[in-house]
Amino acid sequence: MPGIYLHIPFCKHKCTYCDFTSFPDRLAFSEAYMACLYKEMELLGKGLGKYTFDTVYFGGGTPSVVDPKYIYGAMQQLRKCFRLSEKPEITIEMNPGTVSEQKIALYKKAGINRYSIGLQTAIDEQLAELGRIHTARDFVYACSLLKGENFSADVMLGLKGQTEEDLFKTIELASRCGAKHISMYALTPEDGTPIYTDYLNGELPDGDEVRRLYDYGCMLLKERGYLRYEVSNFAKKGFESRHNLNYWRRGEYVGLGVSASSFLFGKRYTNTFDLDDYMKCVLSGFAPVVESEDVEKEDAKFEFIMLALRTEYGVSSAAYRAAFGSDWKEDFGEAFQKMRAYFTEEGDITRIKEEYLYVQNTILTEFMNG
Ligand SMILES: C[S@@+](CC[C@H](N)C(=O)[O-])C[C@H]1O[C@@H](n2cnc3c(N)ncnc32)[C@H](O)[C@@H]1O
Ligand code: SF4
Repeated sequence: MPGIYLHIPFCKHKCTYCDFTSFPDRLAFSEAYMACLYKEMELLGKGLGKYTFDTVYFGGGTPSVVDPKYIYGAMQQLRKCFRLSEKPEITIEMNPGTVSEQKIALYKKAGINRYSIGLQTAIDEQLAELGRIHTARDFVYACSLLKGENFSADVMLGLKGQTEEDLFKTIELASRCGAKHISMYALTPEDGTPIYTDYLNGELPDGDEVRRLYDYGCMLLKERGYLRYEVSNFAKKGFESRHNLNYWRRGEYVGLGVSASSFLFGKRYTNTFDLDDYMKCVLSGFAPVVESEDVEKEDAKFEFIMLALRTEYGVSSAAYRAAFGSDWKEDFGEAFQKMRAYFTEEGDITRIKEEYLYVQNTILTEFMNG
């Protein structure tokens, strides 16, 4: 079932590695921005009356940095403009430096039932180096407020000077604090971010070191009962993110807010990345879309297998046939034969072997040209 993504582009401070659309110096605009978001819901909702949405995801930026009354308001408006399933999964991303008891109470009242907390590392010196606004203790406090709730923690690999022991402490902390889900991302040194200099200067762990950390992290997570269901995502049984699963199944979704994208009717739409343009456009009653493209059938086929092969569920030949009317092993015959040794095949399902999941990009490159 389709999902709804809402982008909240404000942060208290910009982290050194981050190139997401977030404005650390424009929190004063949050009231005006949220009013535009409500309006965009109205504009978009009109054409989507036939849809029932099963997931809602407040991402950013830092959704927890704005006054929680806006999140409550957004949920009120969302229910007015869109039809939600009976038990939707409603997630909010939170930075541990921005939580409070009152915020969580209002989130719960708004219907939020899943939280994603950016821990990154349990080592305070590394948090400071990344420009994070919180300590490991703040994470513990945030988790204490979420006792009994379904929450996830984000962890990063490949930080300057990061050792296996650091990773052990990080995963142990997230697990002990009760995270039901852990995302473990390898740091991508994005061009244009401050951390890119560290990368150029050879100060970050190299690919082999990150790979070793990843394997070690996978082992720690497995020991603690987190099952890998996507290359960077691990969950206790039954706590996989429904919102992300929809993306990986190439399901439809609506994205609202600056820089958000949507995938509907076989088309991909992208909103403007400029905050002022976004607000001007919505206030004038226009969709803030700056790009829309039809996804060609051949590209759609590649997307389908690329997304499915990232997950533990693999490619279902039947699902592929239902979507495209053909056999994926024939459509990608040459690449499939070449890469066959990296796959396991069980009936209808083909998966990348566990030990090769981390290098799936290299495998998938072969499929890019059919
Ligand atoms: C929008 S943030 C999560 C919420 C909140 N803004 C925070 O940082 O706590 C999404 C997550 O993406 C990950 N991330 C962001 N930039 C990244 C990068 N360059 N490389 C790897 N992971 C990154 C971080 O783990 C971060 O927690
Ligand atoms: S708090 Fe999150 S979104 Fe904001 S700059 Fe840091 S990583 Fe990026």
